[in-house]
Amino acid sequence: MTTTPTDFQHWASLHQQRIEAQLQAVLPSAEVAPQRLHQAMRYAALGGGKRVRPLLAFAAGEITRADAGRVALAGAAVELIHAYSLVHDDLPCMDDDMLRRGKPACHVEFDEATALLVGDALHSLAFHLLADYRLADDLSVQLEMVKLLATAAGSRGMAGGQAIDLAAVGANLTLPELEFMHIHKTGALIRAAMLLGARCGTALATAELGQLDHFAKYIGLAFQVVDDVLDTEATTATLGKTAGKDEKNNKPTYVSIMGVTEAKRLAGELRRDALAALDGFGERALRLRQLADFIVLRKF
Ligand code: IPE
Ligand code: IPE
Ligand code: MG
Ligand code: MG
Ligand code: MG
Repeated sequence: MTTTPTDFQHWASLHQQRIEAQLQAVLPSAEVAPQRLHQAMRYAALGGGKRVRPLLAFAAGEITRADAGRVALAGAAVELIHAYSLVHDDLPCMDDDMLRRGKPACHVEFDEATALLVGDALHSLAFHLLADYRLADDLSVQLEMVKLLATAAGSRGMAGGQAIDLAAVGANLTLPELEFMHIHKTGALIRAAMLLGARCGTALATAELGQLDHFAKYIGLAFQVVDDVLDTEATTATLGKTAGKDEKNNKPTYVSIMGVTEAKRLAGELRRDALAALDGFGERALRLRQLADFIVLRKF
């Protein structure tokens, strides 16, 4: 079966709508007290973003024939953690960014204390979802999913990566050090999205789970390499966030360390490695392959 980009666009848009609806349903109403906090949570989580992590969860779920309703909840949990990480990432004490997803950053639209609490509350809500809904037939698998997301979000995952990122301002990182930082701050959550999506369905053989994990690791790193490239090459208007911020903030990135041409070449190499990891999956991995292409070839 051959597919056209339109097929992918259709699939992606359908699943983006599904995630939007899921987030709408689980986020507290802005009418409920404390209204301002709930309003700010909805501001940060709804109506924007590429929703790449939930899309990866859906694509991985297709491999294990997972129930799409369960994957939507697992994907929403990961997206809530991601949305919280962006709210905190933009704070003056971190990257000090004013624009996010084409709108004023949460702390600009509301205030810093509210943005801090939005992060706290989105984080809690993510775990609430994993505890509140049945996502796997086997409850020990569901407990594994909770642990997976906790590790991916915590000091040995995203939060740890963000700590390394802040400590690295103005420093000359080696390539392995930069890779370590990117794998944590961005790769960990991308990997969790895929594994959570897969675990909503039937169990995979250890070898197949290992293949998915390899794909996730390559594509998670590629995602941040491309983010670094876009920060220098794209415009604020297309990104919906301030372009050129990494250089201004003195951040070590793949572009600052190896130059934009080499960084793009590396992203292409990671894409090939990711696709190779899916060998043997056939049509079941169609959406994952298309997402790998989207992640590396995207312009925003
Ligand atoms: C931006 O993530 C932050 C990184 C981890 C690089 P995305 O590029 O996925 O941001 P949204 O969700 O589409 O806004
Ligand atoms: C952020 O990385 C990674 C997170 C965990 C949020 P960046 O600081 O490069 O993300 P952007 O470029 O602001 O979206
Ligand atoms: Mg940052
Ligand atoms: Mg940032
Ligand atoms: Mg960036």
